[in-house]
Amino acid sequence: MKYAELISRLTLEEKAALLSGKGNFTSKEIKRLGIPGITFSDGPHGLRKQAGAADHLGLNPSLPATCYPTAAAVANSWDVALGEALGEHLGIECVAQRVNMLLGPGLNIKRSPLCGRAFEYFSEDPILAGKMAAAYIRGIQSKGVSACPKHFAANSQETLRMSSDSVVDERTLREIYLTAFEIAVKEGRPKAIMSAYNKINGVYANEDKHLLRDILRDEWGFDGMVVTDWGGSDDHVAGVKAGSHIEMPAPGPCSDLLLVEAVRNGELEETVLDERLDEYLNVVFSITIAEDAPTEFDTEAHHEFAKKVAAESIVLLKNEDGILPLPHGARVGLIGNFVRKPRYQGAGSSIVNPTKLDTALECLNACPEIEVVASYEPDFLQSDGKPTEIDTINMKLLARNVEVVLLFLGLTEDAESEGMDRRHMALKRNQLDLFRKIFSVNHNVVVILSGGSAMELPFADQCKAIVHGYLGGQAGAAAMTDVLLGRVTPSGKLAESWPVRYEDTPAFRYFPGAEKTSEYREGPFIGYRYYDTAKIPVRFPFGFGLSYTTFAYSDLRVTENGATFSIKNTGKVPGAEIAQVYVGKRDGKIFRPTKELKGFTKVFLNPGEEKTLTVPLDDKAFRYFNVKTGKWEFEEGAYEVYVAASSEDIKLTGAVEVVGTDAPDPYKGFSLPSYRAGTVADVPAEEFAVLLGRPIPKAKWDRARPLERNDTISQLCYAKSRAARFVFRRIEAMKRKSDVSGKPDLNIYAIYNMPFRGIAKLMGPMVDLNMVDSILEIVNGRFWGGLIHLISAWRRKGKAEKAFERALADAGKEKG
Ligand code: BGC
Repeated sequence: MKYAELISRLTLEEKAALLSGKGNFTSKEIKRLGIPGITFSDGPHGLRKQAGAADHLGLNPSLPATCYPTAAAVANSWDVALGEALGEHLGIECVAQRVNMLLGPGLNIKRSPLCGRAFEYFSEDPILAGKMAAAYIRGIQSKGVSACPKHFAANSQETLRMSSDSVVDERTLREIYLTAFEIAVKEGRPKAIMSAYNKINGVYANEDKHLLRDILRDEWGFDGMVVTDWGGSDDHVAGVKAGSHIEMPAPGPCSDLLLVEAVRNGELEETVLDERLDEYLNVVFSITIAEDAPTEFDTEAHHEFAKKVAAESIVLLKNEDGILPLPHGARVGLIGNFVRKPRYQGAGSSIVNPTKLDTALECLNACPEIEVVASYEPDFLQSDGKPTEIDTINMKLLARNVEVVLLFLGLTEDAESEGMDRRHMALKRNQLDLFRKIFSVNHNVVVILSGGSAMELPFADQCKAIVHGYLGGQAGAAAMTDVLLGRVTPSGKLAESWPVRYEDTPAFRYFPGAEKTSEYREGPFIGYRYYDTAKIPVRFPFGFGLSYTTFAYSDLRVTENGATFSIKNTGKVPGAEIAQVYVGKRDGKIFRPTKELKGFTKVFLNPGEEKTLTVPLDDKAFRYFNVKTGKWEFEEGAYEVYVAASSEDIKLTGAVEVVGTDAPDPYKGFSLPSYRAGTVADVPAEEFAVLLGRPIPKAKWDRARPLERNDTISQLCYAKSRAARFVFRRIEAMKRKSDVSGKPDLNIYAIYNMPFRGIAKLMGPMVDLNMVDSILEIVNGRFWGGLIHLISAWRRKGKAEKAFERALADAGKEKG
């Protein structure tokens, strides 16, 4: 142990105290031994350091920081170097704001377009998500601070996020949900990782030794610290045993006391506690920020960089008759409220207070190349959350008199947020009406989309062009202006598939699961892996994006180690192309998607220029996880290697022979027809149980049994106590109000989905777990007994805490 001597000078109380937060975003220091506290901050696309009262839901404003495009946008750039540069910018802002650890990037796999946090995550594909996350991590950490990739793992929904059990077969877990983290850890070497709220196959991620030690540390070589998600620790002792380090935010001494008691009663060996401390201190000492480090950053330069990132990430989805770029002198109409009130980030803990904010209105008005006529209406939503009846008379007049209409549509703020999932994939009806009315007087409609995830686009065949900026950050509007005018050639490609309808998605029947569980019945067939294999038509395929120029692919050579080919810019303007390399195996015994992304590259070319490129095929290119041997194995034989412009646009095909590992077929004799065909939209329970290798756990809450610590507040509806059911009805009414308000009340969603233990874990030192148990007694109908226990638990807590604090204060005397 590197810090054995230092650790020997800590008392048991001090050791325990170091492994939980001090405040909402700080850890504890021990001055007498020179152990510093550290400061954490969200988040993935910009800092959220709150100067005043801190919270984990992004409710109170934070210090101004650059709001970069969200991960869902940046992933469309497929540009690892850009991701690393973005990380560097984040790192510089961390140093200036004295933040030692940035809580990001978020790299959960987009299992369904409806995940409320889809805007915070990169992709449906683990290679793309992992490579981008690793780049962010390298960039952030190059400035001497720590990244904290999250949420580890299988955390693909917000509904009941703190209690839900992700039921997923091991092969899918390894190949899809863990591979992204594996790449982030091996190639980014993060100093920290955040464990997810949810359970995975019955065990809380934060208490899963197989995940946190066997896989993360022993297999992947992670040597940093595991941070719980905020309020995500269920049993701190179990967490520390399993390999988790710090419990956040600040549960108070009651949590530290649990560690002390566990050591005293032999439940937790002190050597294990010491080991965790050693790992923890190793990180803490490596991320201190020098006192004389700069306290400011160049806000203008960072804004300019945010614009560059946004421009590289914009995706041109349709461009008929060369309507874009806008010709010089074009008379253009701007329609829609996002023209002056951009949607540029999502809600929740990732919310950034931007240093400045560009709007399409200002940016397009400042362009001498075009003549702008603007018209916009009130928000698509009224203050009561009802869709606005849009009076289109003026708009129609305007649309009739211009050559091109730029119509700004997309997801409204209420549609996507941490703490809740989207209910459907449709745009608001008033937006569709608006399109129809504008289209009835002018067919030259360019739709400009904002939003962090896929949407249904019923007008896609009618409009002339569609450009998607996702959530482009504070300079997104300026970047969009440059693309519309052709100052920048669009080069982004979709990091997720865009289904035609929500019903077409593979997890449609399973997402977000029932009360206790979320069954990942679709297995590894998510996103393009499904559409491609089951031959389901999509609106726009994974990896798709247009340009103002054209590219020709040629001369493919393939070996086991890589694909080498040439790309030529055959158009008239400079531009960048993203080439994707997929691998498939037609004659395999082991079922698998038709093809899977294994590498990619982005190249910038002037007109007529040609370059030869090599995309490496690494250890992940041909492997599959064998549930029988519990290892990565290789199936012997020929593999197809496709070089493609999108998952549906294959430009070149090669083949390669791979030597196998001769592992037994784990599925021999098993009846898995849906998985063998990839038609996983309606997998029968029995078949899923075969894939899982065990019976499917019960999905519904047991309404008859008393409520327990890990049951959620939303289960109060089943409480024996009438008063508790009354409280439930009040909370339910507040949630319903929030649902339709147009501005989600994140507090209500957090309370609704919170397990009872959260009362102790998130309310700081006021309540401990024994008090929670007494509250549960009351809820379960034993009012007087519960009340008496509550009072005595509160007294015991007070005494124990005083003794604990005395012990901490005396630590110096005891240990010197
Ligand atoms: C989120 C994390 C975030 C943390 C701190 C949690 O609710 O899940 O992503 O980093 O809060 O704000």
